[in-house]
Amino acid sequence: MVETGQIYCEDCMATMERMEPKSVDIVLTSPPYNTGKHYSSTERSLSRYETRYDVYEDRSADEYISWCISLFNMFDKILAKNGVILWNVSYGTSRDAEALQADVMINCVSDIIRNTPFSIGDKIIWKKSFALPNNVSKNALTRICEDVFVFARKGEMKTYHANKRIVGRRATGQLSFGNIYNFVQAKNSDGTCPLNKATFSSDLVCKLLDIYAYAPNLVVYDPFMGTGTTAIGCEKMLKSLRWIGSEMSKAQCEWSRDRISKFMNQGTLQLFASDDRNAMLYDKKPELGKVDVEPAMVNITADPVLYMTLDLGLIF
Ligand SMILES: C[S@@+](CC[C@H](N)C(=O)[O-])C[C@H]1O[C@@H](n2cnc3c(N)ncnc32)[C@H](O)[C@@H]1O
Repeated sequence: MVETGQIYCEDCMATMERMEPKSVDIVLTSPPYNTGKHYSSTERSLSRYETRYDVYEDRSADEYISWCISLFNMFDKILAKNGVILWNVSYGTSRDAEALQADVMINCVSDIIRNTPFSIGDKIIWKKSFALPNNVSKNALTRICEDVFVFARKGEMKTYHANKRIVGRRATGQLSFGNIYNFVQAKNSDGTCPLNKATFSSDLVCKLLDIYAYAPNLVVYDPFMGTGTTAIGCEKMLKSLRWIGSEMSKAQCEWSRDRISKFMNQGTLQLFASDDRNAMLYDKKPELGKVDVEPAMVNITADPVLYMTLDLGLIF
């Protein structure tokens, strides 16, 4: 049995084997990139960057792609009808074969499409706050964006869930929908962790879930939970989302559990202004129970004083 609110410290395949079929609504993750290679001491600085996780498996490019395919075939078992897989991938960064590594990431996506029931519903550009590493190439551009591929089953391309709202109906009966752009600006990370140098941010997690978490109580699974960012992002959402994680590194599992428990007990509220200037209340105070407020109800413009008033007014 697999329970929500838990990080399973094991290979994600083992966790998914024990999951009920179709029991996950959204997979949200950033997979290992297979670039965690060891370098000699003459390449110390590179080594510090390349050895991204405390635990990793060193696969050949072909092995890596086959492994991704088996992963997606397993996602097909656990993912509910019309669920999505939000797959964040960075650039390949193995500098001794940079082009080759970039090829692996692209080939991997196309082989997933060829060999699994999934295809790409959308591609979201994530613009981070800053680029890292910066200005170390004479020709590569300063890489401040990463991709988030939105995979859905090929047979569900017209039905997979997203929070698009009907805003009109033409005389012909044709519906029109409000815009949600395939561009997200979000922080790089939630801070540094010595065990993992390839983390994303709970800010990104919240913004993606804003688009795809279409109902309360959905189950979000991160097969590569790392430092616990997806769990924190789910806890910050208003929709009582449930989460499950897998992570192979014992040290990162402990780090995440500690981080989540501190987060749940911190008892602070944070208000964020979204890009469209709607105030978004992401954090909650556990001992007060659920903060049952839809983001749409908190529609105020950027005024920090007003946020404070709203914050106090809502809770106390
Ligand atoms: C890109 S990192 C994820 C970072 C995470 N998004 C965060 O913000 O902390 C990938 C993680 O996958 C873990 N990992 C690699 N292979 C795994 C496997 N087969 N099952 C579970 N975790 C694995 C690595 O230990 C690493 O922590």
